[in-house]
Amino acid sequence: MPNSQTLNKAEVPQAFNRVAKRYDLMTSLSPGYGKSLRRSAARLELTPEKARVLDVCCGTGASTQAILDVFPYARPTGLDGSESMLAVARKRFALKPVEWRLGLSESLRATFAAERFDAVFTAFGLRNAESPQRMLEEARAVLAPGGRIVVHDYILDGKALSRLRWEALCRGIIEPMGLVMTRERQLFRYLRQSVIDFGTEAELTALMRDVGASNVTFESQPGWLNGLLGTWTLTFP
Ligand SMILES: C[S@@+](CC[C@H](N)C(=O)[O-])C[C@H]1O[C@@H](n2cnc3c(N)ncnc32)[C@H](O)[C@@H]1O
Repeated sequence: MPNSQTLNKAEVPQAFNRVAKRYDLMTSLSPGYGKSLRRSAARLELTPEKARVLDVCCGTGASTQAILDVFPYARPTGLDGSESMLAVARKRFALKPVEWRLGLSESLRATFAAERFDAVFTAFGLRNAESPQRMLEEARAVLAPGGRIVVHDYILDGKALSRLRWEALCRGIIEPMGLVMTRERQLFRYLRQSVIDFGTEAELTALMRDVGASNVTFESQPGWLNGLLGTWTLTFP
């Protein structure tokens, strides 16, 4: 396996197949991982009557669990492109009524045909799409009227300090730790580069407005990742 370069977007789900068994252990070492997911999930504002939620790029289900922690009555469907990440999720949620689908984030219309959701959540998903705009359009298309999309992801503010902090975090902690724990180098290099390539918070907010959202809000997460991790909420008429 060539372990010296980064990945292209189409290779990302396969790379997650390689780390699936160690993924939860890795995220458990990231302080506040679950708490920040719950903070973003709260923005879904589900109600018992509007409880259908699609978790795009659900991985092993950490984001799905965050939704259920905040809204115990939620009816989640998790979608991911990695069979092995989904296999871990299926095992972890064996007794819970969650549906799991293997599929790609940029073809939600084809995967869900006439199914509609009251909200779409994507945690560390939008950045992995070949075209974030296309993924948002697909998410919009599977929303019921009045639905909302919540996006949780790493994001830089365009200033040199934010990029320096991100590079230091990746090169100093995430990449060496990932290599030791999973023997995978490419995926963690890809993580570093994909955040740099993702654009700034302002650029992403502008792109989100282009998919027809009536309102787009952004909040940076508090805590040690403040300025590097944020939540967008897109509401639709
Ligand atoms: C960093 S994990 C996030 C998992 C979970 N949402 C969480 O918060 O822990 C990113 C997930 O996105 C999936 N993924 C990446 N590109 C994808 C795509 N184009 N379509 C569907 N899933 C994709 C990967 O397989 C991986 O499970």
